Amino acid sequence: MAQVFDRSSNALARASLVLTGLIVIALGVALNSLQRSPWVTRQGQRPDQPVPFSHKHHVEGLGLQCQYCHTSVEKSSYAGIPPTKTCMNCHSQIWTNAQLLEPVRQSWATGESIRWIKVHDLPDYVYFNHEIHVNKGIGCTSCHGRVDEMPLMYQQNTLQMEWCLNCHRNPGKNLRPTSEIYNMAWAGPSTEKPVWCATAANTDGTGVPTAQGVNCVTTDPSKTGRTDIAQNDSGSVLTGSTNPNMPVGTMSDAPVLMLPASYTKFTNQEDLGKYLTGQYHIRTANELSSCEVCHR
Ligand code: HEC
Ligand code: HEC
Ligand code: HEC
Ligand code: HEC
Ligand code: HEC
Repeated sequence: MAQVFDRSSNALARASLVLTGLIVIALGVALNSLQRSPWVTRQGQRPDQPVPFSHKHHVEGLGLQCQYCHTSVEKSSYAGIPPTKTCMNCHSQIWTNAQLLEPVRQSWATGESIRWIKVHDLPDYVYFNHEIHVNKGIGCTSCHGRVDEMPLMYQQNTLQMEWCLNCHRNPGKNLRPTSEIYNMAWAGPSTEKPVWCATAANTDGTGVPTAQGVNCVTTDPSKTGRTDIAQNDSGSVLTGSTNPNMPVGTMSDAPVLMLPASYTKFTNQEDLGKYLTGQYHIRTANELSSCEVCHR
């Protein structure tokens, strides 16, 4: 029987099949990269704010702490944006005529809040909470980058599910002492810059140490003579305080009793991460990647 299709049309059919396949793949890649593009994730964008507030000037320049303005970051799911009053603490006296600050003075005079545009904005179906991250030793820079070097705020990371999961599958690589969460320059321990940590027994009254019960220092405790951990009478250990009004190491409640403690030296992030994962009671990779954690 004669061939219905000759060889050339056969080749054509094959070529068009290959072509269709290529187009489908190209479309897929395009859609996928669109979904991950900064245009969709808003990564790196600096929205026009009513006032060009500079973290670089206020944090690096003036030395203000994050909690001075983002007061609820350790205690609630939201970090919070400061009210106009916080700005007026200084700007009722400094730069009082600057045109840039007109919206701040307006807001103060009328009582209407400044309408800051959100830089980070997760979809509503995602549950996120600052408190747990900060109290379990994830620093601001792990998620927001070097805020102290940002003249205008932008989103450093994608905030996509894959980004969250990348850490949830192995949080150890990002864990740091809770006393270092605001340290913008924290780089983890190294042979040149070791970290010493000690845990106090009986820190929450039930014998279970809390994350705050771990005390880490960056100077050799055997040389500074700091071989004790301070503990107040309620049993909670006072490590480097995160309260901006209290210098590191001071106590809120007297009387204070000192307990002997032995420090372990860490010279790399892997070992410190393992130690802190245990001390902070971090859940397993499987537990932390289960859908209900973030989609409730
Ligand atoms: C003097 C007050 C002040 C201090 C101190 C301050 N911030 Fe802010 N922060 C603001 C204001 C006002 C905004 C809203 C305007 C903007 O996005 O730039 C903001 C916005 C942010 C945002 C983005 C919020 C959003 O819309 O998604 C992040 C993240 C942030 N700050 C982190 C930090 C960190 C980390 C520190 C400490 C290193 C810090 N801030 C210190 C006042 C402050
Ligand atoms: C602790 C005091 C203090 C607080 C609180 C403060 N500022 Fe400032 N701000 C300053 C000083 C000082 C300067 C001048 C900085 C410079 O020239 O380096 C300044 C400068 C500015 C400028 C001029 C541009 C720049 O960054 O140099 C803007 C805009 C501004 N602040 C907005 C704000 C807003 C908005 C808030 C509240 C969220 C705020 N500031 C809170 C002290 C403060
Ligand atoms: C584990 C990652 C992570 C860490 C650590 C983290 N943030 Fe955030 N932050 C986010 C995400 C995600 C959002 C967006 C939340 C949303 O849209 O609901 C956000 C939003 C914010 C906002 C906007 C207001 C708000 O509460 O939504 C501020 C301000 C802020 N963060 C400051 C800080 C400061 C200061 C620290 C350090 C003490 C910090 N963040 C640590 C991930 C993080
Ligand atoms: C840099 C590491 C890191 C990143 C990035 C990160 N997380 Fe987490 N997350 C943690 C750690 C550590 C815990 C505490 C786990 C524990 O205690 O078992 C945690 C806990 C949580 C919890 C549990 C809260 C609770 O009360 O059970 C939620 C929800 C959560 N993260 C959501 C998110 C979301 C959403 C994102 C992305 C927008 C994100 N996380 C990004 C490290 C991270
Ligand atoms: C650590 C937090 C976290 C966990 C765990 C998590 N997700 Fe998500 N998920 C997110 C975030 C954040 C987004 C929003 C992504 C964005 O805005 O692009 C998201 C978005 C989604 C979306 C919307 C489509 C998309 O991909 O953007 C679906 C569907 C989804 N998640 C399903 C799941 C399922 C199924 C699981 C369990 C296997 C899961 N998620 C576990 C954080 C999480």
